[in-house]
Amino acid sequence: MSKKALITGITGQDGSYLTEILLKKGYEVHGVIRRSSSFNTKRIDHLYNNPELLDHKMFLHYGDLVDTSNLNRILEKVEPDEIYNLAAQSHVKVSFEIPDYTAQVDALGTLRFLDALKEVGLKKTKFYQASTSELFGKVQEVPQSEKTPFYPRSPYGVAKLYGYWIIVNFREAYNIFASNGILFNHESPRRGETFVTRKITRAAAKIALGYQDKLTLGNLDAKRDWGYAPEYCEGMWRILQHKKADDFVLATGETNTVRDFVFNTFNEMGIELKWQGKGDKEKGFVKSVDFNKAPWLADYKDRLTKLKKGDLVVEVSPGYYRPTEVELLIGDSSKAEKELGWKAKTKFEELVQIMIKADFTLVAKKGY
Ligand code: NAP
Ligand code: GDD
Repeated sequence: MSKKALITGITGQDGSYLTEILLKKGYEVHGVIRRSSSFNTKRIDHLYNNPELLDHKMFLHYGDLVDTSNLNRILEKVEPDEIYNLAAQSHVKVSFEIPDYTAQVDALGTLRFLDALKEVGLKKTKFYQASTSELFGKVQEVPQSEKTPFYPRSPYGVAKLYGYWIIVNFREAYNIFASNGILFNHESPRRGETFVTRKITRAAAKIALGYQDKLTLGNLDAKRDWGYAPEYCEGMWRILQHKKADDFVLATGETNTVRDFVFNTFNEMGIELKWQGKGDKEKGFVKSVDFNKAPWLADYKDRLTKLKKGDLVVEVSPGYYRPTEVELLIGDSSKAEKELGWKAKTKFEELVQIMIKADFTLVAKKGY
């Protein structure tokens, strides 16, 4: 009989990749989706029509991490072998505006789900918790590993810290197989449009195609360890296949600034930028344009805008600053490499290439 997985947050970036991975491994996949006034399943719709997965079994259940009785019902009905708790209010900046809701979902939601698992009495079910490098916040050590002390810097980070510790507590108190994946930032063409990488690649594509004049960002100095999301979702599965429940950092071990991400994105299209000014006065101007340096754009030559040296394409607005910022993240995932055989393959430059090519193609086709 095939194994059953239950995924919360199945409609998100990671949920969609994890679903693909588990279906390919022969799992029966159950996902929890929220009721929405318009369709919210665009990241997983393709899985119903995928010829490679014709014999797949995939089921969706309405639910919410703030609704305990419904979590109980879903667990009783599905009786999953593995649970992946990916659902969250996952936007750090937004968590300053809705801290209570963020705590309800990201902190207490994790508790509700674990407690429901305990009450329903599914003793063999394994539980994966989507923990985060945001726990390290104001970093106490460089690079950050499983042993680095935490210092979260946002209501999101604090809520996820509760999630982390309640997993550890249920593991120790009730012998539940519950593991934290402490994942550093991971991105993809399916990344939500308000996270910085996707905001950059979408805007750069629109600027090159003439749908937008400039890109407005917040802190350009923030450094992140950015990896490629599908690889991290494979890592989640490996964490639950480990012989014992444990906590693992997944990261690339490289760090780059937001400014680097912007520069590389434009550069992939043959547009070189130069920076002038400091802080919120900093601006990015076109230094040179040579679309021939980007052979992948050959088919779109007639549609590219007449960008020229000196054009302003990037500016800073303090409106995007956070009340407290996480300035530097760089992870050490040597434990995952040693114990799980997991290592990030896609590095920064390739990640930028994947994302700008995908967004350029999308914008060229649809205009948004
Ligand atoms: P995402 O794209 O924002 O997806 C979040 C998912 O959670 C969506 O499916 C969303 O549903 C669902 N959700 C939100 N509130 C919910 C609620 N109250 N009840 C049930 N479902 C709810 O996030 P992601 O990037 O895939 O990240 C997955 C998880 O990993 C999150 O927990 C995130 O905090 C964590 N994480 C992410 C990263 C990263 O770099 N991506 C790194 C470390 C940890 P809708 O589609 O209906 O909104
Ligand atoms: N979103 C956003 N928008 N961020 C900006 C902008 C902007 O216009 N300008 C600069 N930034 C900076 C932020 O201040 C932050 O330092 C950095 O870019 C990355 O921001 P996000 O892409 O929003 O991601 P995050 O690092 O705050 O959080 C993501 O990664 C965490 C793991 O470390 C999310 O996916 C979290 O859910 C995840 O836990």
